[in-house]
Amino acid sequence: MSRVTSTKVNTTPFEGQKPGTSGLRKKVKVFQQEHYTENFIQSVLSALGDRIDGCTLVVGGDGRYLVKEVVDIIVKMAGANGVKRLIIGQHGVLSTPAVSCLIRKYQTMGGIILTASHNPGGPDGDFGIKFNCANGGPAPESVTTEIYNISTKISSYSIASDISCDIETIGTTSHSVDGRLYIVDVVDSVDDHLHLLRQIFDFDAVRRLLTGSDGNEPLRIRIDCLNGVTGPYARRVFCDELGAPHESVVHSQPLPDFGGIHPDPNLTYAKSLVDAVKQGGQGFGSAFDGDGDRNMILGEGAFFVNPSDSLAVIANNLDCIPYFKRLGVRGLARSMPTGCALDRVAAAKKLDLFEVPTGWKFFGNLMDAGRLSLCGEESFGTGSNHIREKDGIWAALAWLSIIAQRQQSVQQILEAHWDEYGRNFFTRYDYENCESGPCEKMYSELDQLVSDSSTVGREFSSGGKSYTVAKADNFCYTDPVDQSVTKNQGIRLIFSDGSRVVFRLSGTGSSGATVRLYVESYERENTKVDPQVALGPLLDIALTVSKLREHTGRQEPTVIT
Ligand code: G1P
Ligand code: ZN
Repeated sequence: MSRVTSTKVNTTPFEGQKPGTSGLRKKVKVFQQEHYTENFIQSVLSALGDRIDGCTLVVGGDGRYLVKEVVDIIVKMAGANGVKRLIIGQHGVLSTPAVSCLIRKYQTMGGIILTASHNPGGPDGDFGIKFNCANGGPAPESVTTEIYNISTKISSYSIASDISCDIETIGTTSHSVDGRLYIVDVVDSVDDHLHLLRQIFDFDAVRRLLTGSDGNEPLRIRIDCLNGVTGPYARRVFCDELGAPHESVVHSQPLPDFGGIHPDPNLTYAKSLVDAVKQGGQGFGSAFDGDGDRNMILGEGAFFVNPSDSLAVIANNLDCIPYFKRLGVRGLARSMPTGCALDRVAAAKKLDLFEVPTGWKFFGNLMDAGRLSLCGEESFGTGSNHIREKDGIWAALAWLSIIAQRQQSVQQILEAHWDEYGRNFFTRYDYENCESGPCEKMYSELDQLVSDSSTVGREFSSGGKSYTVAKADNFCYTDPVDQSVTKNQGIRLIFSDGSRVVFRLSGTGSSGATVRLYVESYERENTKVDPQVALGPLLDIALTVSKLREHTGRQEPTVIT
């Protein structure tokens, strides 16, 4: 046991240490400023108040540039601040879902996740620090506000600089910090999450599907980890456990700069997966983001499953997953901008349906209250109450379980779903890194439009289609569990046929402003028309009403989903 003493280092506040939708995200260079990271970690630890004394915390990151250095700082500061035990993923690596799993399994006070999720990494890329609470979910607004308030007044931080810890090797080390026992556990990054997944899914059934041991042609899959954190998880799950050949999992080495890949699983940034599945003839493809909570699902010929549809299909087939058969299904939920396909499944199955603001933290309260089993977002996030984060590998396994049981292709499953419920055509346009001022002006003009009582009833036309506004507002959410109110969550124009246009400003960007435009159009019969045809008129209306091109100076979006 090493014996060390802590010191207090004087510091002054940095501006802007305000955690956004998913933690504090800035350029790596910002975190590299002297005291910057220490100030924020101290603010996180201080926000725990007395609860820090003798507590356990989990720490891990997505393998990006700076993770190891910041893990080292946390090791030294947690001990100095009275934490009794720190659980760290080997090499400092833990996916976001794995952190949530560990917090819950070992009933810790919370965890610190080092990631900027799907934002690029490397010395010129992004870094992020996110705090998750004892339920395993992202800290709610009350906690992030407290962290921020502390960061604006901070005058010193505590650190035990002499603690050294080998995070490359699994094992436990004990230290005495100012006479208090401090234990650091370096654990296998995958074991606990894998153990949980084994309890949720029928691994035997998926193994039969992937190996052909049931006498059928094996389903060939391609899993692209985009050099993010999921590589070690995907290799263990899909290859070692489920028998997929090793070449099925690609870009599976977590790299500090993701090998130059933008680790966001969508049609733009995961185009290499789209092309490979098209050429390779695999029947299933999936990609995950840097920290492993997002997923994209493809079928044969790179048939794209829109995330809002993916959520609805999983909801419609929960009986293919033993976990839900065992525990029953409480309720379903989606974030407000997410397409409404889920609502139709909820209605058919007589399940509660919750519409919450963007960001996973809003699902947590409902899950903790036992009212929510399955939820998702249009932004490639899908998950359940097995943890309190979205879970990319879980989503891929959910799909493989459905394919195994239904013995249908991805496309057949989708088409059967549309036949049953109709189709909610959905698209999202992202205008990344715009100038903030004009975007805020556009948003406030839209806010005025929806507060104007004459907007309801107005008719908009384009391309031979007309839409009448049935409801217009700036989405405001009252949490049904604790009655907390979250305002200003996005401009909505809801039309009389259920079609919708939504505008939001991103809360996760690290610089400038990102405008998100969501357009959704419902078709009961014409479910196989080209999505561009189905959505074109409404898109045109959205761009005209908002004067988006004039305000942002952008003719085209950066990313289309
Ligand atoms: C984005 C997504 C949102 C997701 C969040 C974290 O937030 O839109 O659904 O929860 O990333 O992955 P935004 O940048 O839109 O605030
Ligand atoms: Zn992520």
